[in-house]
Amino acid sequence: MNLEDIKKAAKIVSENKVVAIPTETVYGLAANIFSKKAVTAIYKIKNRPLNNPLIVHIKDIKELPKYTKNIPEKAQKLADKFWPGPLTLVLPKAANVPDYITSNKDTVAIRVPSHKITLALLHELEFPLAAPSANPSNAVSATSYKHVRDYFGNKIPYILDGGECSKGLESTIIGFENNKPILYRLGAIAIEEIEKTIGKIDVKKTNIQNPEAPGMFLKHYSPKTPLYLVENTNEFLNKTIYKNIAYLGFNLPNQNKKIKESFLLSTEQNFEIAAANLYKTLIKIDTLHFDAIVADYFPNENLGKSINDRLIRASYKN
Ligand code: TXA
Ligand code: MG
Repeated sequence: MNLEDIKKAAKIVSENKVVAIPTETVYGLAANIFSKKAVTAIYKIKNRPLNNPLIVHIKDIKELPKYTKNIPEKAQKLADKFWPGPLTLVLPKAANVPDYITSNKDTVAIRVPSHKITLALLHELEFPLAAPSANPSNAVSATSYKHVRDYFGNKIPYILDGGECSKGLESTIIGFENNKPILYRLGAIAIEEIEKTIGKIDVKKTNIQNPEAPGMFLKHYSPKTPLYLVENTNEFLNKTIYKNIAYLGFNLPNQNKKIKESFLLSTEQNFEIAAANLYKTLIKIDTLHFDAIVADYFPNENLGKSINDRLIRASYKN
């Protein structure tokens, strides 16, 4: 860990500018939550709709009561269990959380990330960091320094290098409605793990036009190469006119001359490894000029559910 880099990042965010930060999930574009100027710059750089609120990153669970109004018992249990870590809680916001962070909602999304460099940065600062994922709106999220640099280059003054993100998928988001926990976004912690801590939870039925987590639009995480998520690879390959296809999945597909290269996310069929490889593989495939990507569904359990969620959005065609 390079202290000089952390000090430099601290100085730049303290001057109300945007800095890219590593987290255990994906890289974020970070700003002082109290700087309207810096937060507005994030929306502009990402081309993000203003009605899509940001996650507030705090340094310690002890800071939670500073930025929230009341904390349901199950929220406290989840924070105790999973922070620092890839869990975001949506809770009633305290008055000091500016409306431009929450898109005027009366709730705030908040988490303690578990990346040691970003935790060290947060400890240098007197304020939390608002940070969406460091990708242009709708593009695949960045999981390395290089991804962020390739997306934004000199549009941001500084990228704090924290190596590759260990989880590689965004945080799991849980909200509370009438004190009941509800899953807003599948993510790096499997629902099964959440349920071990607080019992059965409902999944928010997403209204696509106006989802509760406004970032959960159907088209999202999209590579430039058209992606087809299919039940039956052979059937797809027989019908398709594409001749130069990349395959994405767990297992080698049957040989087919239209498949030019196979990208296996984890040959041991390990969900954690597959999740960590998903975005970087999509970004790599985009540099290789295939006509299309054909992907298999992952087993619909544990992180397989989160991977399928991202593939469904990545494959959405309007
Ligand atoms: O892992 C992560 O969560 C990463 C890292 C950088 O922390 N951040 C991230 O941010 O994924 P973003 O902006 O790409 O996704 C945040 C999601 C969006 O879907 C947004 O709509 C939702 O959180 N969100 C934020 N505030 C909310 C609120 N008050 N109520 C409901 N959803 C909210
Ligand atoms: Mg995002």
